[in-house]
Amino acid sequence: MDHGFAASGFRDAAGYLAGVLSLAGLVKRFDGVAAVDGLSLRVERGQVFGLLGPNGAGKSTTIGMAMGLLRPDAGRVQIEGHGDPAEPTARRALGVAPQAEALYEDLTGMENLRFFARIQGVQDPTRAAGEALERVGLSPRGRDRVKTYSGGMRRRLNLAAAIVHRPPLLLLDEPTAGVDPQSRASLLELVRSLAQDGAAVLYTTHYMEEAAKLCDRVGIMDRGRLLDSGTVDELLHRHGTETLVFVQRNGHGEERVATRDPMTVVSQALQAGEVTGLRVERPDLETVFLALTGRSLRD
Ligand SMILES: Nc1ncnc2c1ncn2[C@@H]1O[C@H](COP(=O)(O)OP(=O)(O)OP(=O)(O)O)[C@@H](O)[C@H]1O
Ligand SMILES: [Mg+2]
Repeated sequence: MDHGFAASGFRDAAGYLAGVLSLAGLVKRFDGVAAVDGLSLRVERGQVFGLLGPNGAGKSTTIGMAMGLLRPDAGRVQIEGHGDPAEPTARRALGVAPQAEALYEDLTGMENLRFFARIQGVQDPTRAAGEALERVGLSPRGRDRVKTYSGGMRRRLNLAAAIVHRPPLLLLDEPTAGVDPQSRASLLELVRSLAQDGAAVLYTTHYMEEAAKLCDRVGIMDRGRLLDSGTVDELLHRHGTETLVFVQRNGHGEERVATRDPMTVVSQALQAGEVTGLRVERPDLETVFLALTGRSLRD
């Protein structure tokens, strides 16, 4: 299906291909403490780059710098073909869905989107708003006030506000936080289709299943640092080669063994006796996070 995004949005006035974001050596300190500490990454057009990390990792601070809201203490944000994110042409190239939804409760969905389209300088705000509503599946509720919307509908409208001017670069900060599984699935599908149309998407999440399913590349973030990045397969290859075996014994806590040979570990545990519980976890992004940080992503 052609939504017109690929045809219209992804070249700048001079005809350069846009939709590439690069962050180089970004540092942001609050009261002397680094919330982001030397972060570099690059998001290509047509790609969803997932920034995966626990609460406080520095994801939103990274988004804040990428959008030109926070000034980095060091490093550089470049929106290729558009320069610095604070410049007006670059601002128009960016679509941002903030973690805390930025919506007007007393306006309808349609009115919210018309407003965002107007401040982005869109030619025909009514038409753009209608198309964005359609794309997120909210057309039937477009005339209702936002205060009557469910959590999932707000999330979808928040995303619609990010795409109403058809920007080639999307910064989506935990766009599925707190929504039910069904809304989550449709939001993920939507983000994927935006990337298919050529958008470059920086996507933060603390859900590893989401990162694994949606993202072309994943960056593991913790305490302000990007510990590694790559495709899920690359990350698993580098850091997730071991299967985790959890063994529970009478009167003991759960013991965790990381191994390349889970069958042997399991049979040895059973032979040693007194086993009251046993589970085996195949390597996934949680394993990768554990290998890189020594802690669990799930806390
Ligand atoms: N304006 C601010 N002033 C002081 N400290 C801040 C500010 N913004 C963020 N921080 C701190 O910086 C660190 C990173 O915060 P940030 O919001 O970027 O994390 P996050 O990865 O987005 O977390 P979450 O998953 O909870 O949204 C945290 O320790 C946070 O308390
Ligand atoms: Mg955040």
